[in-house]
Amino acid sequence: MSVLTENFTLANGAVIPKLGFGTWQTPNEVAPQAVREAVELGYTHIDTARAYQNEQGVGEGLRSTGIARDAVFITTKIPAEFKSYDQAKKSIETSLKELGESRIDLLLIHAPRPWAQMADTTAPRYFEENRAVWQAMEEAVDRGEVASIGVSNFQIDDLTNITDHCRIAPVANQIRFHVGYTQSDVVEYCAAHDILIEAYSPIGTGRLLKREDLIAMAATYEVSVAQLCIRYALQKGCLPLPKSTHRTYIEQNTHVDFEINATDMATLDALVIAD
Ligand code: A2P
Repeated sequence: MSVLTENFTLANGAVIPKLGFGTWQTPNEVAPQAVREAVELGYTHIDTARAYQNEQGVGEGLRSTGIARDAVFITTKIPAEFKSYDQAKKSIETSLKELGESRIDLLLIHAPRPWAQMADTTAPRYFEENRAVWQAMEEAVDRGEVASIGVSNFQIDDLTNITDHCRIAPVANQIRFHVGYTQSDVVEYCAAHDILIEAYSPIGTGRLLKREDLIAMAATYEVSVAQLCIRYALQKGCLPLPKSTHRTYIEQNTHVDFEINATDMATLDALVIAD
């Protein structure tokens, strides 16, 4: 069975295709073709964000395929810098307009803090502000503009800040997750609370491709390092979002129907690759 026909079921019962097409760093003018090719090759799940500045191109690409709206799953995100109810509400309106859609399948808070403060451990935590953003997202669900809501780049205390107060629970946390960078504390917390982990940068934004150890292991399965990394995320129960603008890569990344054996999984689990 191809991963392209498999799904995860979110905690709210919604179905989400197991492999998503990442579009971070895909320019708006390139997005229509990349998305069109992805859909032609069988992807039915596209991940974008206001911050990627390519929602318009993603929407255009989807429409150009003629795929039925209900046959495709679209995720977008509220910018990390928008930390008020009003900004979040406006952001949702803008996303719908840019995408040219009347519904977003999954809407995420892009990060718990503005990007400029993400690496600063002494920065304010924006707990109250994230709850205000969440309220705007819940109301978008009530209006039928958004089907499911979640977060991105959230650590455990960022998550409990939402789950302790929310009316609608987050169903997903999209985090950087790849071989050598697995954030096991937040992954375990999410597994225990039925929050799906979506893995962005599953190939380490391409940095893993040149590693000799991964090249050698991939060869034993007759796959590429990219395929090994995508398969690793799947076997860890995560939803990988590989990004590419090249048709051969976009296609190759869908061929991940092999099994990494337990010994190799243990080897991969033990790797630590910070950068
Ligand atoms: P490109 O965008 O030029 O097609 P990640 O998904 O971890 O962010 O990694 C994305 C990077 O990995 C991009 O530079 C992308 O190249 C590259 N990439 C994606 N899939 C493959 C593949 N199958 N083989 C080689 N490089 C790939």
